[in-house]
Amino acid sequence: MNQKIIHSESIAETKAFGASCARSAQRIWALTGNLGAGKTTFAQGFIAEHGIASPVLSPTFTIFRVYPLPQGRRLYHVDLYRLESESELINLGLKDILSDQRNIVLIEWAEKALHLIPREAIWLTFEHELPHGQVRITQSGVL
Ligand SMILES: Nc1ncnc2c1ncn2[C@@H]1O[C@H](COP(=O)(O)OP(=O)(O)OP(=O)(O)O)[C@@H](O)[C@H]1O
Ligand SMILES: [Mg+2]
Repeated sequence: MNQKIIHSESIAETKAFGASCARSAQRIWALTGNLGAGKTTFAQGFIAEHGIASPVLSPTFTIFRVYPLPQGRRLYHVDLYRLESESELINLGLKDILSDQRNIVLIEWAEKALHLIPREAIWLTFEHELPHGQVRITQSGVL
């Protein structure tokens, strides 16, 4: 398995990394790591790169947001932080969302749905990097 480490010094760098990921062909992005380490910031850059102009707020209280893309495709931004049970996951229909090849899916706190995340997913782990306050992003998966 390939692993790559990115050091981000700023919000802008994390967004730019999100934008570069949005230009890749990978469909499922499993985001994990520390509270407040930049998962939503990454998602903002990723979503903006798809030409979606409206501000992307943290979806923490809404579980997921859907953005229409050209050709009937969809971009899902899922945040499982507040997920309380496995049965909630089933009700959300996350399995079907992930298996539909037309969908691009970003999932914050993806480890809460570990058994649903396909092997093709790219995992990004966000961690605060002391002492300078940067963020370290570790990428693993089939790249
Ligand atoms: N290099 C950096 N990359 C991203 N965010 C940074 C960076 N440096 C500082 N920040 C700040 O850290 C915070 C990251 O918040 P963000 O909501 O993106 O994290 P999160 O991982 O989604 O949190 P949560 O676990 O609550 O979902 C923001 O307030 C941002 O301004
Ligand atoms: Mg977040």
